Amino acid sequence: MSTTDQDLNQHLASGDRGTPQRTSATVPSALRMMLALEDFEEPARRYIPKPIYGYVSGGVERNKTLDWNRSAFDDLALVPRMLINVSQRAQKTSLFGQSYDAPFGIAPMGGTSLASFEGDLVLARAGAAENVPMILSGASLTPLEKVRAAGGRTTWFQAYLPGDTQAITELVERVAQAGYDTLVLTVDIPVGANRENNVRNGYTSPLRPTPRLAWNCLMRPRWLVGTALRTYFSKGMPHFENMGKRTPLVSRTAVRERAQRDHLNWKHVALMRRLWKGTLIVKGILDKADVPFARDNGVDGIIVSNHGGRQLDSATAPLRVLPGIAAAAGDMTIMMDSGIRRGTDVLKALALGAKFVFVGRPMLYAAAVAGETGVRHAIKLLRDEIDRDMALVGINKLNEMHSDRLMDARGFDGVTLTKSSA
Ligand SMILES: Cc1cc2nc3c(=O)[nH]c(=O)nc-3n(C[C@H](O)[C@H](O)[C@H](O)COP(=O)(O)O)c2cc1C
Repeated sequence: MSTTDQDLNQHLASGDRGTPQRTSATVPSALRMMLALEDFEEPARRYIPKPIYGYVSGGVERNKTLDWNRSAFDDLALVPRMLINVSQRAQKTSLFGQSYDAPFGIAPMGGTSLASFEGDLVLARAGAAENVPMILSGASLTPLEKVRAAGGRTTWFQAYLPGDTQAITELVERVAQAGYDTLVLTVDIPVGANRENNVRNGYTSPLRPTPRLAWNCLMRPRWLVGTALRTYFSKGMPHFENMGKRTPLVSRTAVRERAQRDHLNWKHVALMRRLWKGTLIVKGILDKADVPFARDNGVDGIIVSNHGGRQLDSATAPLRVLPGIAAAAGDMTIMMDSGIRRGTDVLKALALGAKFVFVGRPMLYAAAVAGETGVRHAIKLLRDEIDRDMALVGINKLNEMHSDRLMDARGFDGVTLTKSSA
């Protein structure tokens, strides 16, 4: 066993789940300065070719929504309570009849195997090892059957579907056959987003082989050898495997099937509900007016999301609409994503009505930087932050997080300012 493997095993086995461990001696050296989720981004930028990094990190148009996803969290302050015995802290969370070791999971991301060798499998294995859910994207490059076999129970599947009965029926049957229990339908992409950053960076899907793309790949030799060539020589050309017609990742002429997504509507959700016996989740809801439709069509849970600020620019941050959606949810489970980076973000989302949250980009950066080791380290960091923050806020159970622990970060308790500076 290599020193790195030994380090990793020691590191990941150290301490009880959820007990903060900042003992740098047990952390593999490559990860020693990865102290928070945000720390993975810069090394990932240096590893991944520019067009691919731009695709992962980017938002849409003026990046208003991308920025708001973070500023919404910054607009909320936590108000801790003191002298409470917080020694019984626990963050195990029961969700759809399963118990997970943290109140967060890994959001679905297309093209993960482009940024990290076997990215889909790496994320699924890390989710399984740390007992948190990992949602495999419909826009992934690994057959969904293989990912479920690698990740098992903690692996969910996310579908992009056209408003077409046959396509829906075929996919639902395939996902059930592969043994998945949880199916997530993403609904915020009736058309492709206006991602100008992709055009500026030379990113296309499928990738078009151009001298510019070749140059950008040569500029990242570690990625070229460790991800691109390793993938090509071990598996051949990757294909989009789980969404319509099988399409190669790199092609001069191939076109990905995206027709009729703008036909998708609640009737198709009702159809899915009839076909799918497992847990059905809709991802991408932002208006509480949509909630009764989800409930009436038998949806089990909603992920409040703006797709990480990658679809409609100027769409609201999920955190701001979460309370209204949670109030309208009835017995549906409300989850959220977009902008979660810290344990305090998780606690704020739970205080506003989320039962669970998902993290996107940082998990992919962690996979690019250090594979499964990196993702497990990222999960551990966030779990440790949550544990520490629970103690500092003064709670033992996550369901003690209510809006009374929050205040306007720029407000003054009990004071309404009437004088203006004019
Ligand atoms: C590179 C990338 C690819 C994504 N692909 C998908 C996808 O295939 N399906 C989907 O529902 N959401 C997709 N998303 C959105 C994520 O599931 C999630 O909503 C978002 O990343 C959360 O925001 P965060 O990155 O700020 O944590 C993608 C996000 C990124 C960054």
